[in-house]
Amino acid sequence: MINYSQYFSVTPAAEKSDYPKLVIPIFDLLARDKIHLSITETNIRLACLNHTMNPLSISLVDKAKQLSQQGNTKQPLLRALGLQQSPHPNTTTFRVSDLTAGFGFDSLCVAMHGYPVISIEKNPITAAILNVLVHQYQHAATIEWEVVNQCSETWLKQTKQTLSHAIMDPFFQKKQTSLPKNDMQWLIKLSQHTQKSDEVELLSTAQTIIKHRIVVKRDRRAPPINHQKPNAGSIQQKTTRLDIYQLTRVSDNE
Ligand SMILES: C[S@@+](CC[C@H](N)C(=O)[O-])C[C@H]1O[C@@H](n2cnc3c(N)ncnc32)[C@H](O)[C@@H]1O
Repeated sequence: MINYSQYFSVTPAAEKSDYPKLVIPIFDLLARDKIHLSITETNIRLACLNHTMNPLSISLVDKAKQLSQQGNTKQPLLRALGLQQSPHPNTTTFRVSDLTAGFGFDSLCVAMHGYPVISIEKNPITAAILNVLVHQYQHAATIEWEVVNQCSETWLKQTKQTLSHAIMDPFFQKKQTSLPKNDMQWLIKLSQHTQKSDEVELLSTAQTIIKHRIVVKRDRRAPPINHQKPNAGSIQQKTTRLDIYQLTRVSDNE
């Protein structure tokens, strides 16, 4: 019988919440990957029990504060999606799906501006962590934000929801020798047992289902997915590029 206490801890205040329940299903996976997960009221901390990686502390509550203080550094994503700082009353049909959610930083940029978001993450550990992070954030802010643990290609094909926008940020190889940021190193570690997705298939499925716009994050020097030129242009950032695929005109918000 595995003693899960070496893989999981929770502060007394967080213990009273639903958070522990959300991660019980991944206890065996934490044990398999030798990861310790701890939960407070507003944070999650990940540590490698064999010390092969630096620990990571994540909080969407803190991330949102940081983004607000920086005056919307992630504004390019909103711009790429063609969304304003706060939803126009006529745009109640807007629903943004983040098809490669990870720790939800891109989803947060959209959710914190009042747009309903669905974050789809296929890796069970990452999805459970994101679910807790979103619950922690929802404790501090009233927002519509759902997390789904599924492959987004499968999910897109069966969802009954009308989705106006999608974000895609698949892993990409960078032509650099330095290590990726710590959060990205953790996402890569967590996904070591999940099958790599076919980004060409995912984009083409999304293009048949999403109503208005898809934004794909790429390495700034990488070609567009499947060499498919973004028909609504790109936004260049320091290390990444946002490729914009417009499917119809969003007349009331652009
Ligand atoms: C580069 S990370 C995304 C980081 C994310 N944008 C953020 O802000 O934290 C890619 C993530 O997408 C997930 N992923 C890749 N393909 C997927 C698919 N087909 N369906 C759902 N999740 C997928 C991976 O497991 C990984 O967590």
